[in-house]
Parts: sequence; structure tokens; C-alpha cells
Amino acid sequence: MAASFRKSKPVENINPTPGSKNGCRSNRFMEDGVLLTWDNLSVTVAGGRPILQGMTGYARPGEPLAIMGPSGCGKSTLLDTITGRQGPNTSQAGHILINGRKQALAYGTSAYVTQDDALITTLTIREAVYYSAQLQLPDTMANSEKNERAKTTIREMGLQDAMDTRIGGWGAKGLSGGQKMRVSICIKILTRPKLLFLDKPTSGLDSAASYYVMSRIASLNQKDNIGRIIIASIHQPGAKAKLCISVSASNEFFALDGFPCPSLQNPSDHFLKTINKDFDKDIEQGFANGIPTLEVIDILVKSYC
Ligand SMILES: Nc1ncnc2c1ncn2[C@@H]1O[C@H](COP(=O)(O)OP(=O)(O)OP(=O)(O)O)[C@@H](O)[C@H]1O
Ligand SMILES: [Mg+2]
Repeated sequence: MAASFRKSKPVENINPTPGSKNGCRSNRFMEDGVLLTWDNLSVTVAGGRPILQGMTGYARPGEPLAIMGPSGCGKSTLLDTITGRQGPNTSQAGHILINGRKQALAYGTSAYVTQDDALITTLTIREAVYYSAQLQLPDTMANSEKNERAKTTIREMGLQDAMDTRIGGWGAKGLSGGQKMRVSICIKILTRPKLLFLDKPTSGLDSAASYYVMSRIASLNQKDNIGRIIIASIHQPGAKAKLCISVSASNEFFALDGFPCPSLQNPSDHFLKTINKDFDKDIEQGFANGIPTLEVIDILVKSYC
């Protein structure tokens, strides 16, 4: 199960129908930007194995949402499902609503940086981002403006010093894994999308670089003044990365259920250790007062519901 920092809200809160009980609040959200909700989302793969069950949540403009959880818990599956990228061998149930309605998004409104985005390995960063700007940005925009957008975006992701390095791939080493991820992010944010999904944007980065990338992603909204939804899966929430996102609600939630974060420990690391069932033997000895992880998860799920 994917853990997020935000407790889900009932869907009726975002019904935007004019004149509805909650219309005033919803219309305010619509003016501010896009409001995304998912309700009772379930995903099953061929053979009937459930991957996600009863996922409900929401993401608001201007408030980055982090999806955290152990490897294999379903973070990418949740992002794929919300963005409509599920493969043919899966079936899904539940609702995904934009401003309270089922609707298709216009070109350039949303961007999804996946865990394994493909890049053209023979291009340099400058070429990849500048060409992409030429192709993605509208014809009404002057070339100089497109180039300026590309340059600013490269700087935002801290890649200015490697501008002329080839991306590289098998047999031709180029950028590091973390730099490649940042190039992918650059390309996806060129159009300044209103919904930005990122699958492990800090993959391959050290804690300082994670901090800078996450804080730059989080500050995109202030820079271009777009009420943007940002949802990112985080696999390794180091002390620096967590500074960009609020953990206080989750901290309280875990503490109330009897699993408080020990002092001097990074809360995000504590959450993941507490619910990681892949290495239960080790965890039984040290974490969650010796309670088996499946039991811990059960307690947390029941308390959440
Ligand atoms: N199409 C599929 N067919 C079979 N199993 C699948 C499929 N998609 C996902 N799974 C399984 O669902 C689980 C969740 O996978 P997912 O890729 O969402 O995990 P994750 O949380 O993103 O992990 P990681 O942090 O390692 O990227 C895994 O056990 C995976 O093997
Ligand atoms: Mg994944």
C-alpha cells in the first residue's frame, strides 16, 4: 500500500456543480487551478492479483504531494493509474476526477516523468532540451522565447554546467543517472503543465541534490504563478528531501497508533521502516516494538479508515 502524507477527504467536498452544497468551495479551487481526486481506486493484474485496493485521495494546486512506501508497494502503479497509463493486462475500478468531473486533459496540461523515461542518448543536454522546446512550445511563441525557456529550465534543474555533455547510454557513458532524471524533468516542465507527476524524481541523487531538485520542483509554482498539482513518488526520503514536504500529520498519525518516531530519527525513514514487510525478520527484531509488520500495517490501516 502506498503511503502518502495527506489523509484522504470525502469526494463530495470537491463537487464543482454550480449551486451544489459545496459549490462555493469547489469553484474557488477551479479558479486557483486544477483539483485532482481519486476515489476507491483498485487495480488488478491478470490472474486476479490485486495491486491497489480502495485508494482514495486528492491533490491540491500549490501543495506538492509525496507518495511514499517500500519498493513494490504500488507507487508507480498508482501514478500510472491516475495518469491513465495502465497496461492492457490490468483492470482498474474507481474514479479519477478533475475538478470533480471525469474529463480529458488538453495537450500540455499534464506531464508524467516516469522512472525509466527514454532519452536520445546521442544528444547533449542543450540539444535535447532546446529541440524539445522547439517541438513542444506553441508556434505563437517566438524562437528566442522558446530558447530562453529552455535555458531557464536547464538552470532550474541545476544542469547548466553539463549543458554540452552527451546524455549517453550503453557503451557510451555520458550523464549520471540523477542527471538523466533531471533532463527528463526539464523536458516535461517546458510547457509549464498544470499537473506534474514524477516517479522517483530523486532516484540516483545524493541527499543534497535530492533537496535541490525537490525544492526546485516545489518552487515551480511560485516562479511561474501557476496553481500546479505536483505528485511525486519518493523512494528514499532522506533528511534533506523531506524538508520540502510536510510530515507533521503523518508523524502524529504514527505516534497516535503507537509507533512514534524516535528522537533524532528522520520521520520519513521511520515511516518506511515501520511498514516495510519485505524484510520482516530484521524488522521484527528492531522496529515497532517487535510487532510483526503485517500486524502493524493492519493497525495503521484500521486506524486510518
Ligand atoms: N502489470 C503487472 N503485472 C504483474 N504485476 C505487476 C504489474 N504491475 C505491477 N505489478 C506488481 O505490483 C507491485 C507494485 O509495483 P510498482 O511498480 O507499482 O511498485 P513501486 O512501489 O513503484 O516499487 P519501486 O519503489 O520499486 O519502484 C509489484 O509487486 C509489481 O511486481
Ligand atoms: Mg516504481
